[in-house]
Amino acid sequence: MPRTAYVNGRYVAHGDAHVHIEDRGFQFADGVYEVVSVVDGVFADEDGHLARLSRSLNELDLPWPMHPMSLRFVMREVARRNRVRNGLVYVQITRGAAPRDFRFPVDPVPTLVVTCRSTKFSAPQQLEKGVSVITIPDIRWARRDIKSVALLPQVLGKQRAAEAGAFEAWQVDPDGTVTEGCSSNAWIVTQEGVLITRAASNRILNGITRLSLLAEAAAAGIPFEERAFTVEEAYAAREALISSASTFCVPVTRIDGKPVGDGVPGPLGRRLRQAYLAHVGVPDPVTGPVVTKL
Ligand code: PDD
Repeated sequence: MPRTAYVNGRYVAHGDAHVHIEDRGFQFADGVYEVVSVVDGVFADEDGHLARLSRSLNELDLPWPMHPMSLRFVMREVARRNRVRNGLVYVQITRGAAPRDFRFPVDPVPTLVVTCRSTKFSAPQQLEKGVSVITIPDIRWARRDIKSVALLPQVLGKQRAAEAGAFEAWQVDPDGTVTEGCSSNAWIVTQEGVLITRAASNRILNGITRLSLLAEAAAAGIPFEERAFTVEEAYAAREALISSASTFCVPVTRIDGKPVGDGVPGPLGRRLRQAYLAHVGVPDPVTGPVVTKL
């Protein structure tokens, strides 16, 4: 089936979709994006993703390219035209095309691109066995809270992870604390059973999945702390996890080649994943419906 993309007001064949060579997204990475998962036809945490998009736009003084309600419609239309029931919708907004100049154009006409593709989210084996992560220095800029399309450090980090046979790379600040994955938030569970993830600040992207997981943990009475943790603490953790729109919540069972806890996925990660999918209101697209409830 031919794929369709939305580009600046038109639904076009994916292969023909293009933006101008002087688009500021291409020239300067002057743009932001969002990724929303579609699970069994449900747009997971859509309000949260659009709220964060609004914040990202605002931080960069970028105008909304259309009313948010219209964007919701376009996202659904792109999913529908691509016949996606389980997949990811990408929304990318730049400051548009303008003669190359670092300064903002006087009357920017933003570029808006919406694409969608099917995904299986995770392989069943990744949930059964967990995934491995490596740790790398965090070389990003100081405004990681903005979901900017400037992703070169993450591209390099993910490539290093792939070359090391790992699923994700956890980025580490100079003080030895883990900030987050290249495209996910990082979590550990201490030997005492306390769930830890870094507090929201300019040092990390405040994941929408992260926020929902924290709300679910609070509702279930799971003890948690929002604080930085070191790589050493992660090595000594009972469980470790990553969260993102594209993975929901996946167990990490190896960090830098060392097993986490007894090297198999733990119960808290499983409960949190189930709680997240119950919060979205859909069965797990990887394992199917689950019987246990949080
Ligand atoms: N990545 N941290 C970073 C650096 C991210 O790129 C992402 C998301 C997250 C998790 O945020 P959320 O729960 O809102 O997806 C954390 C998306 C999925 C991506 O770029 O593919």
